[in-house]
Amino acid sequence: MQLVDSIRQRRSIRQFLPKPVPDEVIQDIIAEAVWSPSWGNTQQWEMMVVTGDKLTKLKEENKKALFAGQKAQPEIAFPEVWPDAHKARYGEIGKAVLESQATDRDDKEGRLQNTSHMFSFFDAPVLLYFMVDKQLSLEYAVLDVGLILQNVSLLACDKGLGSCIMAVSVMYADIVRKILPVPDNKRLVIGTALGYPDLEAPINNFERQRDLEQVVTWVT
Ligand SMILES: Cc1cc2nc3c(=O)[nH]c(=O)nc-3n(C[C@H](O)[C@H](O)[C@H](O)COP(=O)(O)O)c2cc1C
Repeated sequence: MQLVDSIRQRRSIRQFLPKPVPDEVIQDIIAEAVWSPSWGNTQQWEMMVVTGDKLTKLKEENKKALFAGQKAQPEIAFPEVWPDAHKARYGEIGKAVLESQATDRDDKEGRLQNTSHMFSFFDAPVLLYFMVDKQLSLEYAVLDVGLILQNVSLLACDKGLGSCIMAVSVMYADIVRKILPVPDNKRLVIGTALGYPDLEAPINNFERQRDLEQVVTWVT
């Protein structure tokens, strides 16, 4: 696939096929993704591939925490305030997801179902976590993670896999640590769901928006 096609065809996948992903496919993606740039080639990212029973347990516990109304405890603070333009874009994606599921905004039960699906990582067969050492300067470590994460997303797309970067996968960090061997000296940054996409699912097909004019200033 041409790079430009991967960039344009990659989209967040929120419905996966019940088809396992061979370990070699994930290994290949990671082996290629580590050719991402990083500050001083420090390669500040560390990854953990989660599948099988551990992933099933994580999905169950994550959903349980959601239904129990557990307070979010991410290891990198979630944003709390959005400027108006960002808030508007955030609102649009939420609306598009709900509409694709034919869920009305007032349909509390339907919305809960959607949220619950999200907290089980859309039933993806693989979750790839990214961590950084707690001694690292957080901003640039996270920037490095962002770079490799995009490469993982593009490579996944190139190999016919879908991905969805998921803040909700690190929302209950205590649960992740209870189930997975995350070292004490590492900080959980983010996880991405990976799996074969259900290309027919409306949730994987709604129209997305990007602004160009509003985000670029040319100076000569
Ligand atoms: C840091 C980060 C966290 C995200 N967390 C979630 C999440 O928890 N749930 C979700 O459905 N999508 C999540 N997304 C996906 C975004 O909603 C998505 O990238 C955005 O709407 C743009 O759509 P696209 O990826 O299809 O181009 C996240 C994306 C990023 C970069």
